[in-house]
Amino acid sequence: MITLGIETSCDETAVGIVERGRTILGHSLVSSVPFHQRYGGVVPEIACRHHVELITYCLEDALRQAGLGLRDVGLVAVTYGPGLAGALLVGLAAAKSVSVGLGVPLVGVNHLQAHLYAAMLGRTRWPPRAVGLIISGGHTALVRLEGLTRYTLMGQTRDDAVGEAFDKVAKLLELGYPGGPVIEQTAARGDPARVRFTTPRIKSGTPWDFSFSGIKTAVLRYVEQARQAGTWDDRHRADLAASFQHAVIEEVAAKAVSACRATGARTLIVGGGVIANQVLRRRLAEQCRGARLALRVPPVALSTDNAAMVAGLGYQLHRVCRVTAPLTLTAEPNLGMR
Ligand code: KG4
Ligand code: ZN
Repeated sequence: MITLGIETSCDETAVGIVERGRTILGHSLVSSVPFHQRYGGVVPEIACRHHVELITYCLEDALRQAGLGLRDVGLVAVTYGPGLAGALLVGLAAAKSVSVGLGVPLVGVNHLQAHLYAAMLGRTRWPPRAVGLIISGGHTALVRLEGLTRYTLMGQTRDDAVGEAFDKVAKLLELGYPGGPVIEQTAARGDPARVRFTTPRIKSGTPWDFSFSGIKTAVLRYVEQARQAGTWDDRHRADLAASFQHAVIEEVAAKAVSACRATGARTLIVGGGVIANQVLRRRLAEQCRGARLALRVPPVALSTDNAAMVAGLGYQLHRVCRVTAPLTLTAEPNLGMR
């Protein structure tokens, strides 16, 4: 079966064509990031307008790549949350139009679950006991996974998401938006041992909760002090980027492995834009090897927002769990892991 996936939750307009939930036949993605850059973050109105302008192009482009026509589509999958309300609505309207026009079922997909599915796309077996780590621009969570659709939340961030912390620190270091890729590049020429940033011990909540706002404030203090002392320069900036990245990665990797140990999971599945980070990928691989855990990460191209993961998970939900969405399906901007 050919599934058409639509993703418009934030600043990427994407349409994917996936066969039997596994093989990507076509994938079109246009980012509106360049239009947000001068504002230092995503402007919802600009994102929505771009989705409206680009969704038809992406649909035609993905079908052209796949060498297929709309008539070949047997299922439509669409992200319905979490994300920006107006942005989600554009994707939902497009998905419903195609579904009604073709008379094929519609399935709603949780964007966070789709990020985890990106690591499993192309695989035939879902591991029986696994822990999922979601590290995106808006979310940070550790979940116990029981099969494809059952999730138990183990921990989440108390303040900033990991990607958000990268974005905010990049702003403090005057590196622009989005922060993740540029911090990674800058950190590559810096000394991660120059500043030892620590993450706070969280007294209440679970041992797998995260907090990153303290480290962000600590970076701000260093920048201010260096500026006052007249020592703020490019070397300093690279060292701070490297020290920040190191501290965050150590925290994320340690908690993910500890969550696997606590649940007896043998597999760690990671999804969300931050897993595009090569230093984090290497560190997680090292730690998982040491703990005898199988590590599943998406290819870099499917780490950040895309529609192939939406089509892939949508197919599984429909085929395995017999899920079909009514036409009243609407945007759920605050949808969590459930
Ligand atoms: O999953 P995603 O594309 O969108 C959300 O669902 O939020 O994640 C975007 C986030 C941004 O915060 C971005 O800075 C971060 O992922 N990111 C990275 C890297 N590439 C993207 N963070 C660290 N290192 C990277 N290479
Ligand atoms: Zn995302």
